[in-house]
Amino acid sequence: MIVDDDDDDAFLIEELIQEGLTHPSPTLNRAKSQKEALQMLETTSYDIGICDYRLGEGDGIGLLRTLRSKNITLPIIVLTGQGDQEIAVEAMKSGATDYLTKGKLNCEALTKSITHAIQLHQEAERRIHTEEMLKKSHQELTVAHKELQESLNKLTTAKNQILRSEKLAGVGRLAAGVCHEILNPLNIISGYSQTLQMERQDDLALQEDLGSISEEIHRIEKIVSGLLKFSRKRDVDLKHAGINEELESVLSIVEGEMGIEGIEVVREFAPDLPKPLLDTDRMRQVFLNIINNAKYAMQDGGKLTVRTQTVDSENSSHFTGSTPEEMKKTLKISFIDTGSGIKKEHLDQIFDPFFTTKPEDKGTGLGLSVCYSIIEKHSGTLEAESDGANGTTFVIELPLNQKQEKEDFSPQLNPL
Ligand SMILES: Nc1ncnc2c1ncn2[C@@H]1O[C@H](COP(=O)(O)OP(=O)(O)OP(=O)(O)O)[C@@H](O)[C@H]1O
Ligand SMILES: [Mg+2]
Repeated sequence: MIVDDDDDDAFLIEELIQEGLTHPSPTLNRAKSQKEALQMLETTSYDIGICDYRLGEGDGIGLLRTLRSKNITLPIIVLTGQGDQEIAVEAMKSGATDYLTKGKLNCEALTKSITHAIQLHQEAERRIHTEEMLKKSHQELTVAHKELQESLNKLTTAKNQILRSEKLAGVGRLAAGVCHEILNPLNIISGYSQTLQMERQDDLALQEDLGSISEEIHRIEKIVSGLLKFSRKRDVDLKHAGINEELESVLSIVEGEMGIEGIEVVREFAPDLPKPLLDTDRMRQVFLNIINNAKYAMQDGGKLTVRTQTVDSENSSHFTGSTPEEMKKTLKISFIDTGSGIKKEHLDQIFDPFFTTKPEDKGTGLGLSVCYSIIEKHSGTLEAESDGANGTTFVIELPLNQKQEKEDFSPQLNPL
């Protein structure tokens, strides 16, 4: 594209170009003004523009600036008058690819400048394209890296859950055996102790000792029955039931006492939840265990929020749902307390049987391991979050849309 308002000059430039560039010979269009040049650029794409500095209205630099401000990268050679050094510098600053002095214009200089400018432009375009490709690859790599990291996190969670399940399964098997061994001699001790209590009613000191013995026997019985509950096999009796109703039945029992101890109970129940498959007795036991722990952690009062909602689960890979779509929907139950929190180093241990931070007569450390094994038998997950100071959140996720006949719950994880 030649932009020149002078017919003779334009003719000369056309001549020189046609003389110098023959293979292939170029198509030349001429614009007489800045305005016309802009109009032509709207409809046609050019390899290069040769623009006189002096145009009727405005000048070549004005045209250059307009083009660059519109992000038009067309290479432009500006033709300046004799001794217009300052204009040449200004043209280059404004984005010209080259400049030539009009008075000294000859075929060789013009051809060289045009070829060079087109080459420069092509290289710049290639560089921009490569940079864009690189940027795109980098973005793709970042996304892939993020996805890998997420998969790794999920794998780590799954691995921890399998390890925990295996550990609990091992402890469960051991516990079942030990419980039976303990219960037999315990019954005999209890029998002798009761006989002695009847026979030696006159010996008050002995009666006191025997009282202590039966208290301790009672304690052992409590631990053993807890262990048996934990180690029992597939003892879940599943039917579709409303989670809000089950929570309500537990909360209504404990709420009064919690109120006296200065604990506010807040229900954030989502309405119209789908009904998961539940063993209602066992699930109430889980709720009670978690609520009692929260209560213990809020001895100076506080707030317990119980929330129910459906979510697209991140843990869906653990669930044995019917179709991938169905696997995704889970029921989330959160117990959020404002109690003492759980120390970071304890978070990994709280589901272990017998792990407790409570005094001997206050806790056996079996509550959460029983909860974990019950939730696992519902093909769900139980997790705890705490920063160690500002309360604790226990989250249960239960699969939804499971078919009732699906009774085989995670057999490989649950060999109890
Ligand atoms: N909401 C909570 N806030 C702070 N710590 C908690 C909470 N829930 C559980 N813990 C910690 O986890 C430990 C284990 O809890 P778990 O219910 O298994 O046993 P326990 O409550 O100590 O005894 P029990 O067998 O009587 O339930 C507790 O001793 C406590 O340290
Ligand atoms: Mg407990």
